[in-house]
Amino acid sequence: MIEVHGVTKTFGDFTAVKGLTFSAGQGEVVGMLGENGAGKTTTLRMISTVLKPTQGSITVGGMDAVRQAEEVRKKVGILFGGETGLYDRLTARENIRYFGKLYGLEQQVIAARTESLAKRFDMTRYLDKRVGGFSKGMKQKVAIARSLIHDPSVVLFDEPTSGLDITSANVIRQLLGEFKQEGRTVIFSSHIMSEVERLCDRVVILHRGELQYNGTLDALYEQSGSNDLDRIFMEMVGEGQ
Ligand SMILES: Nc1ncnc2c1ncn2[C@@H]1O[C@H](COP(=O)(O)OP(=O)(O)OP(=O)(O)O)[C@@H](O)[C@H]1O
Ligand SMILES: [Mg+2]
Repeated sequence: MIEVHGVTKTFGDFTAVKGLTFSAGQGEVVGMLGENGAGKTTTLRMISTVLKPTQGSITVGGMDAVRQAEEVRKKVGILFGGETGLYDRLTARENIRYFGKLYGLEQQVIAARTESLAKRFDMTRYLDKRVGGFSKGMKQKVAIARSLIHDPSVVLFDEPTSGLDITSANVIRQLLGEFKQEGRTVIFSSHIMSEVERLCDRVVILHRGELQYNGTLDALYEQSGSNDLDRIFMEMVGEGQ
């Protein structure tokens, strides 16, 4: 579904991602791990077509993320960590509708999907309130609903549970599991090892822009002779510190 092939991204003379190759199949949940600055967000941005690789290629459902960016965007739902990018002065519903329009969806489709997403995320109560007064968890739910308005087959979530309380984080973890059931391809980044252990079929570990590991957790445990992902991770990326 997603093929990242020999991708390098430079910013000026700084190389943020170096010769990265990995793939994610349909219905697969891939966890992306790496320290701050490892290149996770940059990689997700390239897959989502927001950034162009300096070298290498990315395809989503067989379509090129640079040459067929428009088509790729229609397949991909994105949630970026930190700033949700919601408009504070608009209501949750208006924020979601705005995105739906950007994707070229019809009014009725947007309205129906918004209702069903609001039910799914238990946000009907505040659907028509302005986002400006929302808590972080409420905003995150709106941002997630917005990212799903076009029913994407690929979901890219950058640190989706970061800064959320346990209840909200679990809602999102459960959701990632549901995406898998629905046959969506998921790549998400995280700093929480237990979350990755629980949810992922496969992990991609980056260190300073370079791939350290790409494979199943079981194979990683076997190769490392340990079941302690925390420790394996530190041994893999913590060298020379
Ligand atoms: N637009 C940019 N211009 C210059 N450098 C950038 C830009 N975007 C990212 N970088 C650099 O690329 C490197 C990788 O950044 P990236 O945001 O992908 O890391 P990350 O793995 O997502 O880290 P974190 O866990 O902190 O979110 C960092 O050194 C960052 O400073
Ligand atoms: Mg990041």
